[in-house]
Amino acid sequence: MSARTEVELAATVNGQVRAMDAVTGATNALDWLRAQGLTGAKEGCAEGECGACAVLVARPDEQGGTRWTAINACLIPAASLDGAEVVTSEGLGTPGELHPAQREMAVRGGSQCGYCTPGFVCSMAAEYYRPDRRACDPGPERGPNGFDVHAMAGNLCRCTGYRPIQDAAFALGEVPDDDPLAARLSRPAPAPRATVLDGETAFVRPAHLSDALAALAETEGAVALAGSTDWGVEANLRHRRVPLLVALDHLPELRTFEVTPERIEIGAALTLSEIERALAGSVPLLEEMLGQFASRLIRNSATLGGNLGTGSPIGDAAPALLALGASLVLTSVRGDREIPIADYFTGYRQSVREPDELIRSVRIPLPLLPRSSFLKIAKRRFDDISSVAVAIAADLDDGVVREVRIGLGGVAATPLRAVAAEDALRGRPWDLGTVAAAATVLASEGTPIDDHRASARYRAAMLEQSLLRFHASTTEGVAS
Ligand SMILES: Cc1cc2nc3c(=O)[nH]c(=O)nc-3n(C[C@H](O)[C@H](O)[C@H](O)COP(=O)(O)OP(=O)(O)OC[C@H]3O[C@@H](n4cnc5c(N)ncnc54)[C@H](O)[C@@H]3O)c2cc1C
Ligand code: FES
Ligand code: FES
Repeated sequence: MSARTEVELAATVNGQVRAMDAVTGATNALDWLRAQGLTGAKEGCAEGECGACAVLVARPDEQGGTRWTAINACLIPAASLDGAEVVTSEGLGTPGELHPAQREMAVRGGSQCGYCTPGFVCSMAAEYYRPDRRACDPGPERGPNGFDVHAMAGNLCRCTGYRPIQDAAFALGEVPDDDPLAARLSRPAPAPRATVLDGETAFVRPAHLSDALAALAETEGAVALAGSTDWGVEANLRHRRVPLLVALDHLPELRTFEVTPERIEIGAALTLSEIERALAGSVPLLEEMLGQFASRLIRNSATLGGNLGTGSPIGDAAPALLALGASLVLTSVRGDREIPIADYFTGYRQSVREPDELIRSVRIPLPLLPRSSFLKIAKRRFDDISSVAVAIAADLDDGVVREVRIGLGGVAATPLRAVAAEDALRGRPWDLGTVAAAATVLASEGTPIDDHRASARYRAAMLEQSLLRFHASTTEGVAS
């Protein structure tokens, strides 16, 4: 990583290097792009919900090449694009020579008012260039061309309706050899660049963890930033401003992934999409959780460090990690320490993490308990925050509950282990009698409240149902 000390931020957008003049740490990438005259990307919500702001960035893939990755420009600071290669809808094609995603949207009636269309075509283009798209088996949520419809789960359209948009996506063909964006994939993504932007809201992207820890320790009120999917909402909707943002997203020490016979260790700054690819289904509970986490657009930026860093009682990672018996590695200038996730949360948005500590990684002990389930109750199936989340991992060998761990979200001020329900199951036969009794115990765990997402009674009922449903999935083949 090349270190720089002067303010000379620049990004390559649609092949043209653009200096980031008049940018502060509080300027978001969407506003900057639009101020450049690139008004294709729109602001629909400014909180990651609609995808009208989607653009493509060149990110490293696992083979040393590049992956075109769609992200929400409204959520990230413009300064975080320093050194990046960006493609907006204007860079995909021109009115005379439309990109295949643009052409299919036009000819199949996928666009009416057009407000959402630039965002849709960027999400579609990312999926169009996904290297293993053709290799995928077509299925109910994939087109005959391997197009995963969930690639567009973070894009909303208020007027066209989704059928013509899906038709357009499923009509995309093979990527031709002479496609310039496809040709870019075989070369490495831009090298991470250390960034320094002084000013009222300063922004730094240190090259190493020690520099990030020092920057956080030196400036009171400094905030660490990973994928910025939580921070972006704070900044846009709650107008939160801080003296310094310290970007962690390129820190090599937080981007590790390691599997040993004893554990899987996941760096806190890997994006959730990167984690999905690295795990490749090897931790079914995480695969199930990640598949229901927000949308592909959000998962392309969001991290485990950010999800746990907020201390939120309704984050989806914590219940799953509780059920997996995971621990967190916290790091500071004093060194590293490992904390079981069951001991991490201390109160509403509070944890044992000291103000100068970062989450470095998440450790999942091996072997995994063989059966698992992640049940997320939300108002929408995708792109929504949980009302209740229940993660269960169990060893049910010979029809007896040899071991069980249950992690809960949304039923107390913190995520928690359902210890009483676990005790009501452990060592007992895995039959309906045991499960029904334990489900009643589970319904009384936590201190659920009434809020705009769900009533306390509904939350308790969902806890009870989750265990009965898990039992049915193991005995009757009902989907968990
Ligand atoms: C539209 C939308 C949908 C969403 N859906 C879901 C969902 O389904 N489930 C869910 O759980 N969440 C959801 N979220 C919330 C958010 O995406 C997640 O919490 C995400 O994991 C945050 O990660 P991030 O890297 O973007 O965090 P950031 O926004 O970068 O940071 C969030 C906080 O964590 C701190 N932080 C970041 N990294 C670290 C670290 N390594 N150590 C210590 N602190 C750190 C930051 O200082 C900051 O306070 C959604 C958000 C949006 C906008
Ligand atoms: S403007 Fe709606 S997701 Fe960015
Ligand atoms: S075409 Fe109008 S919002 Fe989608």
